[in-house]
Amino acid sequence: MKNALLGGLAAVGLLAALPATASAEELNMVCGAEQDWCELMARGFEEETGNEVLMVRKSTGETLAQVRAEASNPKIDVWWGGTGDPHLIAAFEGLTQDPGVDTSELLGWASNMHKISNGGTVGIYAGALGIAYNSEVLEERGLPAPACWKDLTNPAYAGEIQVANPNSSGTAYTELATFVQLFGEDEAYRLLTEIGKNVNQYTKSGSAPSKAAARGETTISIGFMHDMVKLAGSGFPLKIVAPCEGTGYEVGAVSVIKGAKHPELAKQFVEYALRPDVQSRSVEVKSFQVPSNSKASVAPESPDLASIKLIDYDFATYGERSTRERLLKRWNEEVKNASH
Ligand code: G6P
Repeated sequence: MKNALLGGLAAVGLLAALPATASAEELNMVCGAEQDWCELMARGFEEETGNEVLMVRKSTGETLAQVRAEASNPKIDVWWGGTGDPHLIAAFEGLTQDPGVDTSELLGWASNMHKISNGGTVGIYAGALGIAYNSEVLEERGLPAPACWKDLTNPAYAGEIQVANPNSSGTAYTELATFVQLFGEDEAYRLLTEIGKNVNQYTKSGSAPSKAAARGETTISIGFMHDMVKLAGSGFPLKIVAPCEGTGYEVGAVSVIKGAKHPELAKQFVEYALRPDVQSRSVEVKSFQVPSNSKASVAPESPDLASIKLIDYDFATYGERSTRERLLKRWNEEVKNASH
């Protein structure tokens, strides 16, 4: 009977439309990179394995909140993308599990995430923070071009700057941690409060401010340079600045959630995400982070991290719960309220 049914399906060409294996499963994935790259990763994995991926894009802080809230009954199997600090925090809190994958081809900054979290998360890409401005709007308004973080405190920029909220956005948390590491904590909050007086909006997602600057809805944005390169390459009049004082960077990460309903599939996904051929596909969607696999190709458009003055970002400290809570509490009290 079963054979007859399969034969019948094959005859009408339906067999090919069925999943490749009888045990096809659904992988629940939360994605922290840009939507188009998230789609590419999900669809690529589906095509290769015949399993279905249910994917949703969320900002990094939002995902950390979800993972914590669902700790006793996790809905997410794998968390791919987004800045590394919240992944580390989840790992340190025991909310992720070691997928047991081979990290020998990864660059040092990526395997470092794996090492400091005891296998709880692993690096997939890196990207530096920067400033962008819309050159047409800047000229129209007769404003000077910023070159340094401190330039952003200039009262001439009142209402002209947009940046994300570090409670929801990993990008903005990276900025907060970068300021603290560059200037010391008190000076960092003084500067962020001054800059806050010029901020027109704190957005939920980290790439939204640069998209707004590209469209001329704000003059200046703070964000990851690779997001700005993508927008500038699409023809928007966006100029990108590596701040003169130096800057911080993210190591984007992938984690398997502790108690995932589909741990084997999640492991398979992590292996997929670390492969050089898969990481090299990021250029198809103009995602210009530096890939973590040493054998993946780096797009010529990718900001050259070696030529940017990068701080020695302390992931172990800033990827720690108490540090994040203290920094966010102070940001909520001192910086958020300074904006218009
Ligand atoms: C963009 C960048 C990623 C980064 C992510 C963080 O998608 O391309 O490199 O990891 O933002 O997002 P979030 O909304 O948490 O700042």
